[in-house]
Amino acid sequence: MSATNVAIEYRLAKSGSELDVDAIIDVFRDSGLGAYRPIDDREIIGKMFAHANLVVTAWSGETMIGVARSLSDFCFCTYLSDLAVRRAFQKQGVGRELMKRTQKAGGTATIFLFAAPEAEAYYPRVGFAAGSGFTLSRMQRLR
Ligand SMILES: CC(C)(COP(=O)(O)OP(=O)(O)OC[C@H]1O[C@@H](n2cnc3c(N)ncnc32)[C@H](O)[C@@H]1OP(=O)(O)O)[C@@H](O)C(=O)NCCC(=O)NCCS
Repeated sequence: MSATNVAIEYRLAKSGSELDVDAIIDVFRDSGLGAYRPIDDREIIGKMFAHANLVVTAWSGETMIGVARSLSDFCFCTYLSDLAVRRAFQKQGVGRELMKRTQKAGGTATIFLFAAPEAEAYYPRVGFAAGSGFTLSRMQRLR
């Protein structure tokens, strides 16, 4: 499967609850993002998408080939949690287009994200500035 000469269709949704969980898992796995997401747990992936409120997907025919999953307040901040493009479609502008549409749908919101190790050079390349991010996992206690 390749993007050459194939029209890509983009869809915007205010929830990912309508998406097929197995198709999402397949995109995560095929992109490489699966190494950093709980793709063996359909329930968690389903919840991640059911509770997201800004989801842009890319399609080649009936095959989902890319996804950008965000949580947004549509005015101040959009947290772009997951961006993934199938390997055969990478480096052809799909990731950039998914983020363009995410930014547009977020209105005046700033996009925040954490890069996977393989994508650390990607975000500055498409215009993101590095900041100082912090996380507190559910395994950690506040001191
Ligand atoms: C990272 C990813 C989303 C990028 O999507 P993509 O559709 O391949 O990227 P684009 O085609 O929009 O790339 C835009 C530009 O960045 C470059 N680029 C793409 N991936 C890159 C990477 N990993 N590192 C550095 N530059 C990259 C492209 O060559 C292109 O350059 P150009 O403007 O000179 O043509 C995609 O490769 C992917 O799914 N990777 C695996 C999962 C992952 O790491 N996701 C990010 C999680 S935070």
